[in-house]
Amino acid sequence: MSADTYESFEWKIPLKRHASGKPEETPETPQHSLRLGVLISGSGSNLQALIDAIENKQLTEAEIALVVSNNANAYGVQRALKHNVPVIYLPWVRHTGTRTGEMPESETRLTALLQLFKVDLIVLAGWMRILSAAFLEQFPQQVINLHPALLPDDGTGHIYTTQDGTQIPVFRGLHAVKQALDAGVKVTGSTVHYVTPEVDAGPVICREEVAIVPGDTEESLHERIKAVEHRLIVEAVRMCKSNI
Ligand code: GRF
Repeated sequence: MSADTYESFEWKIPLKRHASGKPEETPETPQHSLRLGVLISGSGSNLQALIDAIENKQLTEAEIALVVSNNANAYGVQRALKHNVPVIYLPWVRHTGTRTGEMPESETRLTALLQLFKVDLIVLAGWMRILSAAFLEQFPQQVINLHPALLPDDGTGHIYTTQDGTQIPVFRGLHAVKQALDAGVKVTGSTVHYVTPEVDAGPVICREEVAIVPGDTEESLHERIKAVEHRLIVEAVRMCKSNI
């Protein structure tokens, strides 16, 4: 058989067929399920929230087509394996000397994987690598990120106004939970936003405030933020589905 005659298969369980040969639509097999590519680097509790919401039929609009981890030892890899979700370890090579507009090797590999698995929406769920503008241009409005702090509506600027009218700094980058604690603010939160080349600065999809309580440590506060994130990420995927 020549390469041209190979049949092409999709990484998807086929729809049941009616006697007529047409796919049979049931509540379990929604017509256009959003195919998620979830990128992780660590614990993967937000990946777990998506897996649970899909398994419990709270999120019927989406399925996880693929999980990619840049860390072979990430606990999220085990979570995916346990639930029979396709998962791949993609070693990430920090790029040096790439010309402007050119994608580093690791991003080229990631692109090929996302395309092979026909991913519609890329969810950065604790993904600890910055993606280049060249990579992002391939997926306009199709990459979303969870950030453990509050971002303004359009994602830009340095001041956030909380629900009670207080102005607080916008905490971006690493250790955003610690930054909020160190700044002594009373409220922080979590934001799901579209990803733009500028780090933690894309338009907001949804977000929620979390109160900082006396005695909070980075760990205790981050745990409460994550509990909120587990709801937000499901809500954000649903909102993205209705926009695609
Ligand atoms: C989340 O708090 C998210 O906001 C941040 O990384 C954390 C990932 O947690 N970007 P997990 O790996 O999903 O448990």
